Amino acid sequence: VKEAIDGDARGKLRRRLLDESASWRPKPTLAGREYWDESVWQDERERIWHATWIAVGRAEEVPDTGSFRTFDVAGESVFVTRNASGELRGFYNVCAHRGTRFLDEGAGTVRKVFKCPYHGWTYDLDGRLVGTPNVDEDEYFDRAEHPLFPIHVDTYAGFLFVNLSAARPMPLVEFLTSGAETMTAFERFGMADLRIGHRIVYEVRANWKILVENYNECLHCPTIHPELVQVVPLFRFGEVWDEDVRDDGLQMMPGATSFNPTGVSTLPRFPGILEEDVNRYYGIYQFPNIALDMHPDCVQYYILVPRGPRHTTVVSDYLFLPETIADRDVSTEPVVAFWDLISNQDWAVCERAQVGVQSRAYRSGVYPRKDRFLYWFNEEYRGWMGREPMG
Ligand code: FES
Ligand SMILES: [Fe+2]
Repeated sequence: VKEAIDGDARGKLRRRLLDESASWRPKPTLAGREYWDESVWQDERERIWHATWIAVGRAEEVPDTGSFRTFDVAGESVFVTRNASGELRGFYNVCAHRGTRFLDEGAGTVRKVFKCPYHGWTYDLDGRLVGTPNVDEDEYFDRAEHPLFPIHVDTYAGFLFVNLSAARPMPLVEFLTSGAETMTAFERFGMADLRIGHRIVYEVRANWKILVENYNECLHCPTIHPELVQVVPLFRFGEVWDEDVRDDGLQMMPGATSFNPTGVSTLPRFPGILEEDVNRYYGIYQFPNIALDMHPDCVQYYILVPRGPRHTTVVSDYLFLPETIADRDVSTEPVVAFWDLISNQDWAVCERAQVGVQSRAYRSGVYPRKDRFLYWFNEEYRGWMGREPMG
């Protein structure tokens, strides 16, 4: 399992990215087959998706004692609930009796116990087996030995993460701060207090890494996103990083206070943000499956749910202040229409990339300097996959 790197190391990586601007030489992409090969996908499931912290949604999706929701983590169905004291608990969606799929996909509420649809065994909200119809404890059968199979669950800033590793995992915050970018740098946006105002789910016929790579570069922006490059002028030049702006921020067009083509906001600003945040856009990618876009009045994020090597479900949520959601229909806000436009532009080109990399002609491609974040994502990926970095 990969070791965390501390804040110092992160600083070093960032300085290295800066230094590299001048000395960069074109570097190879991942191999074509890494975007479609079934055995690569199986290896990723083992080494990444079932080995570390994976974002699945928001804590508000499992609000109360007895609420539950299922999640697909690279082909493993799991569910998260809250026990009698309101603490989050997570389990594989598998009965301990004979392995039956336990809950149907989706969300719901139970009063006190979960009941398996096969032989009716029941488990309490902490996963303890408490009912076994027609099987008595005096048959040398001890219910305590057959609880549901647990998973690790934790939250940060309202985001819900699960971890399927059998070993004791690295603490979530340590994990979140171990890459070049981290959502922990944005406490001032008060994300823990925001709520989901709108959700769009996209089905994209592309490998999850193609989506990550697409998120991390803007060489495609002038051709794919003519509207976006008006709002974020630096994107016109294919650059995604303004070294002079803190926290990987980017200036929006002059006077803009909201992420939409007019730049005009009718939404209340987040109370904790700085004056300098008002004209900015912050976008970060957090390995492996969440990308956040922070605006002065809305947070949009993508959670990537890989369904296989050639298919990714993308959950795109829009967070607002609770009073904003109570006050109006946020689904009609311009920021939603704008991100939906950008998203569809991106998914279309990701699907084109997917079919192209499946060609026998394509062994691997090339990263010019402005693609350096993709190369660093690939280095991080190689690390998780147990391979040597290319350096
Ligand atoms: S498999 Fe669940 S009760 Fe038998
Ligand atoms: Fe894009």
